[in-house]
Amino acid sequence: METTVSLIPEAFRINEPINQKIYLVNGVLKEWNSATADVYSTISSTSEYAPTLLGSVPDMGEKEALEALDAAVKAYDKGQGVWPTMKVRDRIECMEKFVRIMETKRNEVVKYLMWEIGKTLPDSEKEFDRTIEYIYDTIEEYKQLDRDSAKFDKNGGVYAHIRRGPLGVVLCLGPYNYPLNETFCLLIPAIIMGNTAVFKPAKQGVLLIAPLIEAFKDSFPKGVVNVLFGRGRAIAGPIMKTGKVDVLALIGHSSSANALQNQHPKSNRLRLVLGLEAKNPAIVLPDANLDLAINECLAGALSFNGQRCTALKVIYVHDDIVKEFTEKFSIKVDELKYGNPWDKGVTLTPLPEPDKPAYIQELIDDALDKGAQILNAKGGEHSDNYIWPAVLYPVTKDMKVYEEEQFGPVIPILSFEDIQEPLDDMAESNYGQQVSLFGSDVYTLAPLIDNLANLVCRVNLNSSCQRGPDVYPFTGRKDSAVATLSVHDALRSFSIRTFVASKDTELNNEILEKLLETKLSNFISTDYLL
Ligand code: G3H
Repeated sequence: METTVSLIPEAFRINEPINQKIYLVNGVLKEWNSATADVYSTISSTSEYAPTLLGSVPDMGEKEALEALDAAVKAYDKGQGVWPTMKVRDRIECMEKFVRIMETKRNEVVKYLMWEIGKTLPDSEKEFDRTIEYIYDTIEEYKQLDRDSAKFDKNGGVYAHIRRGPLGVVLCLGPYNYPLNETFCLLIPAIIMGNTAVFKPAKQGVLLIAPLIEAFKDSFPKGVVNVLFGRGRAIAGPIMKTGKVDVLALIGHSSSANALQNQHPKSNRLRLVLGLEAKNPAIVLPDANLDLAINECLAGALSFNGQRCTALKVIYVHDDIVKEFTEKFSIKVDELKYGNPWDKGVTLTPLPEPDKPAYIQELIDDALDKGAQILNAKGGEHSDNYIWPAVLYPVTKDMKVYEEEQFGPVIPILSFEDIQEPLDDMAESNYGQQVSLFGSDVYTLAPLIDNLANLVCRVNLNSSCQRGPDVYPFTGRKDSAVATLSVHDALRSFSIRTFVASKDTELNNEILEKLLETKLSNFISTDYLL
């Protein structure tokens, strides 16, 4: 889509490119004076289409990666570091300082979310606000966890003071579709539990991290958070090979996760916190409220152009209603508004990956070759940075669009006569994150829910799939996830139960009482925060 600078609201214009030179290692903001990589937006600022240069970031390599890893290892210091042994109260204070500084950066972060990944203004604001809320909720949940462990258990003549302790060094890699929220949903719980981290922002959605680097430096002891820039292969691979990473925290594709975890020489030492790809289906039963199902499927398949791991990526509609569903659905798809992220009322926005329209076209061509049709008039229309969502029907299992996670604007629809067909497909699938189930008869729904809950990890009744609210468990079966994320679960995923046990003897009891009285240990403590 062509645009001119004058059509861009002043607050969102790119006046100067950001040439990010600063990175954070061992508490020092270092200046990078070597190779850089340009960062472009697929959004044009000129009447003749041209990508917009947003700036550049350091293109770092193995040397800097290992330097950052070393800083994180030193800050953990075999569990003796200032951070992993710090009082809960003090770690929380650091996190509160960080979030207060972060709140002041809202405008810059939101602006670059729009330019770098094409997310609409309301969704970009939501991503920022949701992340702030996540951090505050994490602090509260951590206090609760601490309150719950401020006690001694006694069983079989043994006292136990059980807490959750950190795991060590975390390598944290986030995705481009939620470059702030999903990355911080890993990084924040990892740090607050006493781990130290090396963090590399995604390739797209990288400049928006720049305003926060200084906040990391000012809020946490040196080496706790180290921020690098560059390509995953150049940075993450060498880090994993050292065997010094205790947790790989990654939101992205299972192929990247597999490649990285396989480079770690000590597989039992490595813990994994992974949010991976999915192919969430919608199942529309014959008695579904059709308008509701259509609206939810529309939002589920196309919000942020389908670039969400939770997006509906395949829709099963019962034979009896498939004609009506596809007709109404196709009209609604073509009624959506396309534009730049700051334009009022837009749903569809430029795709940040320049090669994505060609990939989606490949999926469409393959489906058409194998017997599908494009049902909507605008389906597959190209512009410089977009391809209009095509509603494809009838889709069959030999098509690429059925098999692959499209992560973009194309909607495959299949019809079914017997509910066993989608259930068998889901059981066969490599993925198992969520499902949307549309229907109303409880006698039909009950056995289905019982089965679906064993195939995925969230059954959305008459609504699209989604991660939020963030207090609910977000996870998946098979290739869709390892470990569970939520405000509460993430604190568990980034820690391990560890405790002090002491036999009920006079000597031990006296020691415990003295430890409590003198407050010499940060671990043995029955103090708690309100
Ligand atoms: O990309 C996957 C995100 O976790 C989805 O989150 O359902 O809130 O858009 P969301």
